[in-house]
Amino acid sequence: MKRFAPCLLALVLFQGSPGFLLAQSRPATIKIDSDRVIGEVDPHLFGNFTEHLGRCIYGGIFEEGSPLADENGFRKDVLQAIQGLGVTVLRWPGGNFASGYNWMDGIGPRDQRPARRDDAWGALESNRFGTDEFLKYCERVGAEPYLCINAGLGSVDEARKWVEYCNEPGNTYLAQLRRKNGHDKPWGVKYWGVGNEIDGPWQLGHKNAEDYAKFALEAAKAMRRADESILLIASGSSNFGPDSDWVGWNRTVLDRLKTEIDYISLHTYIGNRDNNFEKFLAVSRDIEDRIAVVEGQIKAARVGNPDARPIHIAFDEWNVWYRTMVSGEYNIGRTGLEEQYNFEDALAMGMFLNAFIRHADVVKMANLAQLVNVIAPIFTNKQGLFLQTIYFPLAEYAKQRGYQSLDVLVQSPEYKPDSGRALSYLDVSSTYDPKTRKVFLNVLNRSEKEDIPAQIGSVSGALSGSANVWELNHSDLKATHTFGNDKVVRPTTKAFNPAMREKGFGYTFPKHSLTILTLQLN
Ligand code: AHR
Repeated sequence: MKRFAPCLLALVLFQGSPGFLLAQSRPATIKIDSDRVIGEVDPHLFGNFTEHLGRCIYGGIFEEGSPLADENGFRKDVLQAIQGLGVTVLRWPGGNFASGYNWMDGIGPRDQRPARRDDAWGALESNRFGTDEFLKYCERVGAEPYLCINAGLGSVDEARKWVEYCNEPGNTYLAQLRRKNGHDKPWGVKYWGVGNEIDGPWQLGHKNAEDYAKFALEAAKAMRRADESILLIASGSSNFGPDSDWVGWNRTVLDRLKTEIDYISLHTYIGNRDNNFEKFLAVSRDIEDRIAVVEGQIKAARVGNPDARPIHIAFDEWNVWYRTMVSGEYNIGRTGLEEQYNFEDALAMGMFLNAFIRHADVVKMANLAQLVNVIAPIFTNKQGLFLQTIYFPLAEYAKQRGYQSLDVLVQSPEYKPDSGRALSYLDVSSTYDPKTRKVFLNVLNRSEKEDIPAQIGSVSGALSGSANVWELNHSDLKATHTFGNDKVVRPTTKAFNPAMREKGFGYTFPKHSLTILTLQLN
């Protein structure tokens, strides 16, 4: 992004517009061109993740005997909150939990299911919530299920049989078992993860890239024999530590598995560890660098082969998570990862989603980790729930789904939060609906101190003189929610009739804010 040189013309254009700021402010330019389409925004960018971890499943989405639960044990208040989030795809059962899980433990009459040690998180797993409960839950939520197999301590045969149990229409033993357990028709599970974070030494059954690729190749072959229509997500890099060869991991995985997989996963958790707001919101540089590197690796794996299988990125774990991570390590020992989110974390949701939308041609799935209680936007106790600060941007972005991502020109004042390269204060993504010619402009102002006036214009048809504004802002970056006090950080909305000049208008993005402008192209 180039630094925008203030000029007389810009100052003239700002005058009289509702967002007008004085001349000493540093102006920005945003130019929309509806012909510059990056790619379709896959609805699966608004996915989520539920793991057997802490109170995500038990006491979160599922609480047998609770007055708040329905006949299935599903918490009705939680279901309603999830529907407000617009979750499109739901990953399960882990996470680290998946690498020690045997799906056969979680089917059949609940009272006969074995309780087992969960050695990923040091808990007791009752297995009262299993495959059929999860798939029924996805139906209730209206989300695609995404199952992750055990590529840690599990076997190829277990994976193959899991696909058969879920998807077999015929009269095999496993299809009959599914029928006996209450589901006559195949569940038709389309998305299957071939393991979780197998590159991480913390993972049960951690493997080197070659060993993982050998396992995954055989698993993919066997799972596809059970149902050739399934789509497979390979375990990509999650370990970005200074000593990790994450690029090498992905290279091997893509090279060995390119004929079998449809996605490669990426995971990223971030935190404001040194209490530096602007640096915290600069992590999009790393996120986008990683996406660009993996995109290049995918191209390298496919180059020269016109029939090569399309492969995309599934960013299937992402979030802010650091307060409940002990000494930077996974807290094996069970605080339940119950992060209490604040206002700046809510802004980070916009940063992540802007990055995914800007790479909508290659990032085709993203799953916030996680949905309820465990590093989550929804927080329950036995009496009810409250919505964490991060809930609101997630819900709002999800409403834009189905549109095209636009390559918007942004010239904004820049900053250098560390010794790395400079980046724009305004972090922008845009989506567009060609049928209605509506443009959504998602703008994060990551300046802690300065409002930033911008001139917004279109080079592909004039913008109409009316717009809607959705804004998330708060004077206290650390403002949080809790039970009985969850209205502190809430979005505001307003209609806005900009003074149009030269096909554009001026708008000032307040310091530390996330704004979504809904605009109309004539
Ligand atoms: O989401 C919490 C944990 O983070 C998941 O179990 C694991 O995959 C990741 O390391």
